[in-house]
Amino acid sequence: MAVILGLESSCDETAAALVTSDRRIIAHRLAGQEERHRPYGGVVPEIAARAHAEKMTPLVEAVFAEAGARLSDVDAIAATAGPGLIGGVMVGLVTGKALALASGKPLIAVNHLEGHALSPRLVDPDLDFPYLLLLVSGGHCQILRVNGVGAYERLATTIDDAAGEAFDKTAKLLGLGFPGGPAVEKAAESGDPHAVPLPRPLAGSKEPHFSFAGLKSAVLRASESGQYGAEDIAASFQMAVIDCLRDRLNHILDRTERLAALVVAGGVAANGAVRAMLQELAGERDMRFVAPPLWLCTDNAAMIAWAGAERFAAGLNDPLDIPARPRWPLDETASAVRGAGVKA
Ligand code: KG4
Ligand code: ZN
Repeated sequence: MAVILGLESSCDETAAALVTSDRRIIAHRLAGQEERHRPYGGVVPEIAARAHAEKMTPLVEAVFAEAGARLSDVDAIAATAGPGLIGGVMVGLVTGKALALASGKPLIAVNHLEGHALSPRLVDPDLDFPYLLLLVSGGHCQILRVNGVGAYERLATTIDDAAGEAFDKTAKLLGLGFPGGPAVEKAAESGDPHAVPLPRPLAGSKEPHFSFAGLKSAVLRASESGQYGAEDIAASFQMAVIDCLRDRLNHILDRTERLAALVVAGGVAANGAVRAMLQELAGERDMRFVAPPLWLCTDNAAMIAWAGAERFAAGLNDPLDIPARPRWPLDETASAVRGAGVKA
């Protein structure tokens, strides 16, 4: 049994966790920065990096205190090395390097997306490779075939905005506040999903990819028309996103070998309506549906520690001069898609 310390700082959550190779989450801590970014309506990279620098070391001390453990008790140190806001990534990665240097324990540089992609296996011991993964976060919207640790085949990606980004922009447009995803979901609960006619970009397309930019423009027009309430727009928007996700998944499911499990991960996986649709879709396709608990969907360090545990078990560790990477695709062989240059 190995104990892994995980560190996460790629966006606006600073987090540390201790997780074992037999799926025990010994301690996990998280410090959000929402109040610092709220006045700007989005994450400000420089403010995020400074907050990570303040919070990371106290969080590491806190997880060790909670666990009654010391640095010498860990077997490896896993830190997010990208993709993400580079100033923040460097705080976690350099902290990880310093702890690895001081303890003589191996460093494991984790791809944040791999943290999300493997997180369902932390809570579900029966989830075996390969599985079909919908990865929906603030920076990404992809369908991947997860063949094993470090073995990801990208089947679809967004050609413009990520799904979570669309939620965040819609929330900002509607004045629903920050962070956007949960605010849109809440407003949608009291709205009519059929009230506002909105497009389903790329639905029915022969390419497998996603697009959300047109949806955002349509939300802007609906909002400016003054014809609709924010709740109805939110509900109609959420329904449009869900329809797009379902359409693109069906496109892939019709064309690929059947896999035993449909898995969702990333911040948007915290959305109840998205989860309900996926559950239904998995049922129709005779697949098992696996979704991590809500706290494990949004950014956290337990998923980084777990990805570290999986990599440690596979004998994968990294030299101390490994760089932080602002862009780092999970499938390095996937070809760029039209318009998607900015979304690694
Ligand atoms: O995975 P995550 O915490 O950070 C990234 O790696 O991007 O995902 C954050 C994204 C944000 O865009 C946020 O608005 C979205 O996930 N999100 C949600 C919900 N909770 C978080 N989107 C829709 N409904 C939610 N309940
Ligand atoms: Zn994330």
